[in-house]
Amino acid sequence: MELKELQRLLGEMSLEEKVGQMVQIPANMLTEGGLITGPTDSIEMTQEKVSLVGALLGKTGAKELRDIQEEFVKNHPHHIPLLLMYDIINGMDTIFPIPLAMGCTFSPELVEKSAEVAAKEATAAGLHVTFSPMLDLVRDARWGRVMESTGEDPWLNSELGKAMVRGYQGSSKAAGEPLDLKKEGNIAGCIKHFAGYGLPEGGREYENVEISERTFREDYLPAYKAAAEEGCAMVMTSFNTLDRIPSTGNKWLMREVLRKEMGFDGVLISDYSAIDEMITHGIAQDSREAAKLAIMAGVDIDMVSNAYVKYLADLVCQGEVEERLIDEAVMRILKLKNDLGLFENPYKDGSEEKEKELFCCKEHRQLARKIAAASFVLLKNEQMLPLKKEATEKVAFIGPYAENVEIHGSWSFPKNPESAITIKAGAEQKKTGMTFVQGCLVLDEDQCDRYGGKQSYGEGAKDLMLAEAVMAAKNADKVVLCLGEHRNQSGEGGSRVNIRLPENQMILLREIQKVNANIVTVVFSARPLELKEVTEISKAVMLVWMPGTEGGNAIADVLFGDSMPQGRLSMSMPRSVGQVPIYYNRFSTGRPNGSGTAVGFIHGYIDESTKPLYPFGYGLSYTEFEYSKVELDKTEMCVNGTLTAKVNVKNIGALPGTETVQLYLQDVKGSVVRPVKMLRGFEKVTLQPGESGEVRFEIKESMLKFYDINMDYVSEPGLFRVFIGQDSDTENMAEFWLKK
Ligand code: BGC
Ligand code: BGC
Repeated sequence: MELKELQRLLGEMSLEEKVGQMVQIPANMLTEGGLITGPTDSIEMTQEKVSLVGALLGKTGAKELRDIQEEFVKNHPHHIPLLLMYDIINGMDTIFPIPLAMGCTFSPELVEKSAEVAAKEATAAGLHVTFSPMLDLVRDARWGRVMESTGEDPWLNSELGKAMVRGYQGSSKAAGEPLDLKKEGNIAGCIKHFAGYGLPEGGREYENVEISERTFREDYLPAYKAAAEEGCAMVMTSFNTLDRIPSTGNKWLMREVLRKEMGFDGVLISDYSAIDEMITHGIAQDSREAAKLAIMAGVDIDMVSNAYVKYLADLVCQGEVEERLIDEAVMRILKLKNDLGLFENPYKDGSEEKEKELFCCKEHRQLARKIAAASFVLLKNEQMLPLKKEATEKVAFIGPYAENVEIHGSWSFPKNPESAITIKAGAEQKKTGMTFVQGCLVLDEDQCDRYGGKQSYGEGAKDLMLAEAVMAAKNADKVVLCLGEHRNQSGEGGSRVNIRLPENQMILLREIQKVNANIVTVVFSARPLELKEVTEISKAVMLVWMPGTEGGNAIADVLFGDSMPQGRLSMSMPRSVGQVPIYYNRFSTGRPNGSGTAVGFIHGYIDESTKPLYPFGYGLSYTEFEYSKVELDKTEMCVNGTLTAKVNVKNIGALPGTETVQLYLQDVKGSVVRPVKMLRGFEKVTLQPGESGEVRFEIKESMLKFYDINMDYVSEPGLFRVFIGQDSDTENMAEFWLKK
């Protein structure tokens, strides 16, 4: 449709119809066949109001969604189709690693490809919008949703956020490409959670956020902004408060920052029931006032609270809200529907045949396997890995993840969860004659659990399982211990104060160590865990996060050296939960360690180091790389100029490997305190033994900008340090001066 036709349509719609477009209902309000069931208690809607709504949440399936859509389009006075939305976070049916693991690939290319596959499968399943990417910067491993983010760094999150938008939507606005949501396989993305949701105080879920505007702008906004500039079609508000104002009613945040400063002109949706939650936050008297706050702030769609449907029309009739605001919101929604081509084809790409063809197809599985392998982070390896394929090396795989299909992470709803490859299934492709023993359950009966993670051992079975595991370890040359958090211990509502492995698994580890010191521990988790003891006991440790459908194959590939480990930490690993939040790009204090101040009067703790167990960017390979000193092409850079930094990287080990060369900058002195280091580039190089390669980075003034003492976004002349190395701890450095 032309814009003019959309305007004509808007002009013909009644106020009730317009409000309907601004309402999203949950799919469980409808019966199976897609028929409208009429009033429901939870949302207090009449059948007539239900038939006018504009969006549906939480259902997939070409057939199911087709039936629902058909019914809606038929009954709607202007035959306006529904927007069908769901959380397709790390894949629709072919499940990729969780986003935090995607962050560890440091690969925009792989992330884009995974999003493209997710979009193809999700649109085949009838969807129009996915509630992804989540671009909340995360620094607190206690928060259950760190798994949904790509990590702690603004630059990395921005690069990967843009990659996800390109993968989902098939185009880049920043590169001047036209929006092409109609195209088969493209889905509209939704940036969330705007804004600052990744910083809940104490890591407590739904907790409020306290942050300075400067840090908020400099660290937290860039990834949302980058994805908006890439052309992401939608944005979702966040549950948290910011400066004591819930985002969903924060006019400054939505109208000034998001729309004006960031130039976002797409559809803004509230998070789940977040409009009504402003009542419990204590800034709205009732649902009517909450609806008013949300519309004034610029929220276009009310996700499942009943505020808009009940009060928006009345607010307009009473003259409390200008109808113009409703018209603007509805126009944005109609435009998105039109961009998706829904007026011509309300089902978009939904097709049962396509589902069959694409879901977990060979090509998608291959990609999932490759990406999973690239996301694993090898933390330690004392000549344990790769494992030998020869029968002479006897290997026992022990632990509750040795043969476990629950490796998708939360927010994954594959049709058949059993389609995931276990470690056992993967390893058996590599070599025969190995032992596989469970050892213990993921969680003991008395351990922390949500919705059904607990299992029961049965009479006497617990001791027996442990004894069997110890016996298997005794008879092996090497033990691969497959341990991890339960899938339900993370995700939304999954905050924890104890971020260690379940204690029963630690007992297993300690018992195994008594009979066999050659331990390789493979850790499944959806957050950085406190792994100090695990890394002390084990000779090798590899993090595999929640690796998805092809997890077991990818793990076997890396363990046996068919794929080389190359993942890098996208979040710092704490030594102790007491250090959290811990992140590399912090500010220098006046009394850093080693500053010469009397012992006991320096920055940090008296009972623990301030350093993480492993820093951001860290990860080993099966080989070693040697770096030349950082070289700059000049020692002075003009504000309008650029500067080139380069290093030579050489593979000095016996195996091939892929190195992620990382560029960090430090602004030595600013009008406000600057971070000790900030990531400003990364580049992957694959090198054969003995081979070397040159890696260059161009440094531009835009990389040096920050919010100065006057809150202006500028660079300040002065001394800068350029670090290039393997991780954020690198000291390989050169200096330059920025001149006016
Ligand atoms: C979550 C969002 C999600 C929405 C819809 C909310 O609880 O915070 O991330 O997109 O539900 O499922
Ligand atoms: C402390 C102050 C104290 C001063 C003089 C500083 O180290 O922070 O509280 O008054 O020494 O003793």
